[in-house]
Amino acid sequence: MGERLDKFLSSQGLGTRKEVGKLVRSGGVTVDGKPEKDPGAKVEPEQMAIEVNGRPVCYREHLYIMMNKPAGVLSATEDRHAQTVLDLLPEDLRRRGLFPAGRLDKDTTGLLLITDDGELAHNMLSPKKHVYKLYFAKLDAPVNREDEEAFSAGIRWQGETYAPGRLWAGEDPFYGFVEIREGRFHQVKRMFEARGKTVLELKRLKIGGLQLDETLGEGECRLLTPQEVQSIFR
Ligand code: URA
Repeated sequence: MGERLDKFLSSQGLGTRKEVGKLVRSGGVTVDGKPEKDPGAKVEPEQMAIEVNGRPVCYREHLYIMMNKPAGVLSATEDRHAQTVLDLLPEDLRRRGLFPAGRLDKDTTGLLLITDDGELAHNMLSPKKHVYKLYFAKLDAPVNREDEEAFSAGIRWQGETYAPGRLWAGEDPFYGFVEIREGRFHQVKRMFEARGKTVLELKRLKIGGLQLDETLGEGECRLLTPQEVQSIFR
């Protein structure tokens, strides 16, 4: 059976259906060594050698997309009322089975991983795997030594226990950097709440060794390189 050549090329992040269609018609794509000019030709990517401009398209079983999440958008796959992060994906990166790996609150911005790799997402989110997430918070009061100590000891608040993390103040003490390995509901906000402080803005900067690409504007995204995927667990 197979799938359409243009659909496959697009799913591998090589451009929109329209763009890859143009590429195919121009003769830039070969299948098993022969030029294939029909964008609708059926291919079996796992069995066939597909090349674009002489370079093999390595079949990627999974997609890993980094998004700089804007405020006001839900970390969900679909919602009847609000815009979701999946609605922001460009057409060429839309693929069935994609979901945000770990949620950021609607008003939180920054690094969000969108993937169709359930196993990676599970490992990334499991506190047992010790993948630390780094957040930048703007607060209504300065961070002090007692706050830092409380974060490293772990925090109990309103019946919840949050595992030890790390907090340090920025150059401006109203800015705090927080590193935690859990991803509980409103966790950073709640941990600060326990210290009598309110988070005014929150942005995620890192997941494990994977850093937000600051060249991405809010709402923009790009594919991760294989090295970046590895870096999550480094
Ligand atoms: N902690 C929060 O409070 N909110 C987020 O979005 C992420 C971590």
